[in-house]
Amino acid sequence: MTEDHVSRETADYGDNLGDTPLAAAAASAVNLTSGRLPALPRPTETRVIVVANQKGGVGKTTSTVNLAAALALQQIEVLVIDLDPQGNASTALRVDHHGDIPDIDDVIVGGDPLSDVVVAAPDFTGLWCAPASIDLAGAEISLVPMVARESRLAKALQQYLVEHEQRHGRRLDVVLIDCPPSLGLLTVNAFVAGQEVLIPVQCEYYALEGLGQLLSNLDLIRAHLNPTLHVSHLLLTMLDARTRLSAEVVAQVREHFGDLVLPTAIPRSVRVSEAPSYQQTVLTYDPGSPGALAYLNASREMILWKHYGSYPQDKTY
Ligand SMILES: Nc1ncnc2c1ncn2[C@@H]1O[C@H](COP(=O)(O)OP(=O)(O)O)[C@@H](O)[C@H]1O
Ligand SMILES: [Mg+2]
Repeated sequence: MTEDHVSRETADYGDNLGDTPLAAAAASAVNLTSGRLPALPRPTETRVIVVANQKGGVGKTTSTVNLAAALALQQIEVLVIDLDPQGNASTALRVDHHGDIPDIDDVIVGGDPLSDVVVAAPDFTGLWCAPASIDLAGAEISLVPMVARESRLAKALQQYLVEHEQRHGRRLDVVLIDCPPSLGLLTVNAFVAGQEVLIPVQCEYYALEGLGQLLSNLDLIRAHLNPTLHVSHLLLTMLDARTRLSAEVVAQVREHFGDLVLPTAIPRSVRVSEAPSYQQTVLTYDPGSPGALAYLNASREMILWKHYGSYPQDKTY
């Protein structure tokens, strides 16, 4: 990062923030609730980011919805594609999903256009969602005999990106795909549709276990189905800063993956886990909480890393 970039970033954000963490949190919360967060630079083309880890419970869904919300609040146009039959991402974004409503199953299995199922997330501007429902549970089986079964989502998404821009007069900046906890055909569809993979890593003893399998699967996808796919970010989740174990896991993951690991780790926080039961993200549920601020910082790092090739020197929120 150039000096120029550092000072410009600081100047843009500095006026709003106090110089203690508490004051900064309070200022961010006020800015957040009043919709006054500074805009992030828009990516030069749509980034399609697959949020994947075949382990369940590592924070895929939580990270998808909170990063999406954080990006939208910083004026990035975002689409969330819910690819988990549990539909938890749809719930957290307050988007209806049940048998009677068209959902991502109708796109992937039924062949409907994505524009038939994408809806606006009601609590945000510039945040869209393709919901999932339990209907999707049969998709892994239904897809097996289908022609080009791995690229059905990719095809629908390519068409939708054009339609979205025509319809809304604005290109989507980021598409986040929330994967189910497996490496089955739904996840493969996401890998073929995306260019980037974001891997949430839970800060626990077995954190690195299973990542080898994920990475070798990505090698296979690259070799046979999508040569552009690459891991662009790892996000440490559910960090308990007080334990030595968490610190050891963080050190291990950073040593292994270096700059791919976003500087901000998401702390374990009750507010983060409570938010979905109110059909909310933590950004709206408790904007000044450590979890909300961490997701804001992480979202900013994702964008600035790609934009400038380096991370911001300081945490803004
Ligand atoms: N930072 C966090 N602090 C506390 N609980 C969390 C946090 N992140 C996720 N959780 C909780 O952990 C559980 C698993 O998270 P989830 O995002 O659903 O994982 P996945 O999508 O990988 O299965 C959920 O109950 C969620 O509320
Ligand atoms: Mg999930």
